[in-house]
Amino acid sequence: MNILVLGSGGREHAIAWALAKSPKCEKLYVAPGNGGMAGFAKNVKGLNAEDGEAVLDFVQTHGIDLVVIGPEAPLVAGVADVVRKAGTPVFGPDAQGAQLEGSKTFCKEFMMRNGLPTAEYLSTGDEAAAHAYIDEKGAPIVVKADGLAAGKGVVVAQTVEEAHEAVKSCFEGAFGEAGNTVVVEECLTGPECSMLAFVSAGKAYCMAPSQDHKRAYDGDEGPNTGGMGAYSPVPIVTEEELATMKQVMSDAAAATAKEFDNDYRGVLYGGFMLTPAGPKLLEYNARFGDPETQVVLPRLESDLVDVMLAVAEGRPDDISLTWADKWAVTVVLASKGYPRAYEKGKVITGVDAADALEDVKVYHAGTAVNEAGELVTSGGRVLNVTAMGATFQEARELAYKACDLIQFEGKQNRTDIGLRAIKGRDSWA
Ligand code: AMP
Ligand code: GLY
Repeated sequence: MNILVLGSGGREHAIAWALAKSPKCEKLYVAPGNGGMAGFAKNVKGLNAEDGEAVLDFVQTHGIDLVVIGPEAPLVAGVADVVRKAGTPVFGPDAQGAQLEGSKTFCKEFMMRNGLPTAEYLSTGDEAAAHAYIDEKGAPIVVKADGLAAGKGVVVAQTVEEAHEAVKSCFEGAFGEAGNTVVVEECLTGPECSMLAFVSAGKAYCMAPSQDHKRAYDGDEGPNTGGMGAYSPVPIVTEEELATMKQVMSDAAAATAKEFDNDYRGVLYGGFMLTPAGPKLLEYNARFGDPETQVVLPRLESDLVDVMLAVAEGRPDDISLTWADKWAVTVVLASKGYPRAYEKGKVITGVDAADALEDVKVYHAGTAVNEAGELVTSGGRVLNVTAMGATFQEARELAYKACDLIQFEGKQNRTDIGLRAIKGRDSWA
């Protein structure tokens, strides 16, 4: 089979790597891809991944049998709709289903309609109503821009003043059109847990739970980022919480079939908070998580081509998932300054040595190959170093050992990925 993956991050590297392991994968294209994928896939430059017609043209001229969409933007733009309608299987929901991620109001209404547990909220396009709701509820309180804001549209306000300021900045256009409507939401507490599920024709097949580290610095300090590290499974989740999350994902999958003409075919990502009152949804995403994918897919023993094709063709009963009995930890190596301004073009050494360690895989994100043929930094999050081990501690130690082998000027990473989980649930108290 010829497969096209859209995207360029560590997530897409992990997806492409898992697809390439399948004997069924003949030609693998990644658009645009990155410096790490060039070795086993063909990077496609100059294809606009958000333009459905352009993607369809590529599919038809290159005999593509399956399209896998990594990031949210092409999903929201309706790329899956165009390609699927023309007859090629697509892993990724249509634009309508992708609205679960594209609009926080759409998502909250979906959750309320279907009885899925989530925080109390107000969604409004009226600035005065948002301010009044904050005054009524008090702080802490959470303010979210409705639309896609690259993970930057959420403020967890500790004071009423901060919340008012966040509302004001949304309506002043800080997030463009994404902020014309805001969601003001009850502040939940507890550890976060990501539950990704393959969803097709109303059925959910949950992957192992995972946990992201969103803040830039050790101790969960500093600005929010796209994610600085992850692990899977999650030792602090109880059996009861796991069962609740799986049930919520099943209920949501059944609701997608009812509401989106049975056409939600891809990943549904439940972002949960494990509150004292049980797991509650913070959000749904319509795609794999990044960096969660880098700790979830390496543990998948089933053939990912079979799984993705069954999802894309609406054959959920043909999906079967088996997982390695191992722990996985990913540490993100970022450029100095990330998530704010950073420099690019720094030469990276040691990736091959790290990759050569048993049970280690280095997934690339912001890397490129310069004219001299050297691997250089080209983004904020540069590399994802994933290690697997028989125990959580073993995986964690191996990941950091591999990180130490990799050098580039301004290398910045958290040193405490997974540490809170080792300390136990009380570290979230
Ligand atoms: P979201 O984009 O909705 O996932 O929000 C980004 C981050 O903001 C989440 O990962 C949480 O850390 C935090 N957050 C979002 N909603 C809430 C909430 N209702 N209570 C507490 N924290 C939240
Ligand atoms: N790890 C957070 C996300 O993928 O949205």
